[in-house]
Amino acid sequence: MHSLRALPLLATLTQFLSATAEPAAQQQQQQQQHILAAEDNDDTPLPVVIWHGLGDSYTAEGMQQVGSLIEASNPGTFVYFVRLDSDGEADRRSTFYGNVTEQLAKVCADLASHPILSTAPAIDAVGFSQGGQFLRGYVERCNVPPVRNLVTFGSQHNGIVDYRACASSDWLCRGALALLHGNTWTSFVQSRLVPAQYFRDPADLDSYLAHSNFLADINNERGPKNATYAHHIAALDNFVMYMFEDDTTVIPKETGWFEDVEDGKITPLRARKMYEEDWIGLRALDRKGGLKFKTTPGEHMQLSDRVLTEVFNEFFGPYKVSSKKSNVVGEL
Ligand SMILES: *[C@@H]1O[C@H](CO)[C@@H](O)[C@H](O)[C@H]1NC(C)=O
Ligand SMILES: *[C@@H]1O[C@H](CO)[C@@H](O)[C@H](O)[C@H]1NC(C)=O
Repeated sequence: MHSLRALPLLATLTQFLSATAEPAAQQQQQQQQHILAAEDNDDTPLPVVIWHGLGDSYTAEGMQQVGSLIEASNPGTFVYFVRLDSDGEADRRSTFYGNVTEQLAKVCADLASHPILSTAPAIDAVGFSQGGQFLRGYVERCNVPPVRNLVTFGSQHNGIVDYRACASSDWLCRGALALLHGNTWTSFVQSRLVPAQYFRDPADLDSYLAHSNFLADINNERGPKNATYAHHIAALDNFVMYMFEDDTTVIPKETGWFEDVEDGKITPLRARKMYEEDWIGLRALDRKGGLKFKTTPGEHMQLSDRVLTEVFNEFFGPYKVSSKKSNVVGEL
């Protein structure tokens, strides 16, 4: 796991892709047996779904390492790595290019038809960087199978005004982010460039509300609001949002906590209209103790085994155990 600790300024959890293949059929079969056993054994951990960030791939070594940590925390966990393509490089490409609504629809279909995930009573989910707001989109729009605990690390829940995520040698990344500057609101860019679909400048909300292909919708910032979105978020046990204290890649970093930053002035989520009017269920979730604001030291995606393990121990694992930890105080 040491490679997770010293990263350059990249949105990726690992700089290099590994050639690691999907879990072998044999392993899948074993996992299937774990789930089947769940019916008479409540100690079976819920499956965990992981969505990687910009420039990463589901086959990346860092993702596989995260999967190993989850397994170490809760032995027998079935871990599913979200992918837009079974080919790792094509999957990585789709973190830059594509229509997020279409990408999310594919992920919803994949999860809903997956033999293990679709038969589990619920799943837990962890999203890294943009994978975090996409998993939130999954909860709001689909949620079949339903998510119990959603954890996001350095995600862009309130959008970005800039991104400094590319290594100088990464032409795929640089090409994508070059497009972001200047052409953000064209339908050409909104339908093709992933980061543009969560671009949000508080100083130009009109353009955002008129043209944003993804974020303005899942944040229910337009009228009328979609009540299903709020209902699904409020139904989570926990939504745990990590912000990296020294994040200079994601601008502003406070987006990890849904904070609004305009001219350096930060409006915390709880002071925002989207919270007061509860556009997406965050206030209802907060009232039952399920909305968690957390920080971790370091630059974007600089994660330690220790922090990850703490999170996996606290929020993932068997159905009943975590339900006890979730501080549910009443029916919604
Ligand atoms: C609200 O979202 C749900 C889930 O994505 C969708 O099925 C429904 O059509 C949406 N409702 C409206 C009014 O857009
Ligand atoms: C993205 O895809 C959805 C679903 O196909 C479509 O409705 C939407 O218009 C597309 N967005 C853009 C900007 O073309």
